[in-house]
Amino acid sequence: MLLYFAGFTGMDVPSNDPLRICDSSCGFSLRRENERPLSGESRAGRTRNRTDCGFQARLPWETSIRRLSIRLKILQVGDPVLRQKARALSNEEIRGAEIQQLIDFMLETMRDAPGVGLAAPQVGISLQLAIIEDRAEYLRDLRPEILAERKREPIPFHVIINPQIQLKDGAPAAFFEGCLSLAGFSAVVPRAAEVVVDCLDRFGEPKQIQAYGWYARILQHEIDHLNGALYLDRMLPRTFTTMEHLNRYWKDKTIAEVESLLAP
Ligand code: CO
Repeated sequence: MLLYFAGFTGMDVPSNDPLRICDSSCGFSLRRENERPLSGESRAGRTRNRTDCGFQARLPWETSIRRLSIRLKILQVGDPVLRQKARALSNEEIRGAEIQQLIDFMLETMRDAPGVGLAAPQVGISLQLAIIEDRAEYLRDLRPEILAERKREPIPFHVIINPQIQLKDGAPAAFFEGCLSLAGFSAVVPRAAEVVVDCLDRFGEPKQIQAYGWYARILQHEIDHLNGALYLDRMLPRTFTTMEHLNRYWKDKTIAEVESLLAP
C-alpha cells in the first residue's frame, strides 16, 4: 500500500489494534485481539467462534455488518502472501457480497492507518484488488512546494480490480515513499511520472485511468503489490532508512542532495 505518512511523502504508516484474520473460509474474525469476551463467553468459546461465519449472531447490537467499523490486520514484509501474484476476480465475484464487504473493511483499515492505498494481499487476501484515496486533509499540513514538486493532489476513494498498467515514457520521478507492510521504514523509489491503467471498478465496470505525479506513484505501488512486488525491489538501496532517521536527516533535502550525500 502506498500510503500517507504524517506530513511527508510516504505511502503507509503502521496500523494498530488489528483484527485477526482467521484461517477458515470466511476470511475474517470480528473479534479484536484485545477485546474482552462477551459476557458468559469462555476463552474456549472465543477460539471456536473465530472459525465460523456467524457474524451477526455474535453481534446482537448491530443489525447490519456494513455498519461495523472493521479494521483488518496489515501483513508485514516476510509474509509469503506479499510475494505472491494475486489472482484476478470474475465479474460475478466482484458483485458478490463477500468482495463488497472486503472493500468496505479495507477502506476502514486504510483510513485508520492512515494510508493512501491498500492492496488486498496486504490483508492476506491474494486477489487483484486495491483501493486508493488521497484525502485533502492529508495534504493540508504539507508545504505547497512539496505538493507541487510531487504533483500531489487529493484523489477520491476508488477501487481498482484486475489492473493492467502502462508506464509512459519520460523522466522518472524519485521521492521517498513508504509502505504499510514495511512499517517504520522508507526509501527513495524512482517511478514513472505518468501511467495509464485499465481496470474494473467496484461494480465490475471497465474504466481507464490516466494518472500523473503522486497518483501515478500510488497506482504503481499498489499494482506492484498485486504482482508480489514491494518498493524494496525498486528502491535506491542506499537511501533505505527508518522513518525516524528520515525525519531527522533527510526529509528537508532534495533527492539530488540525498543521493549525493549517500554516494559510495
Ligand atoms: Co505498500
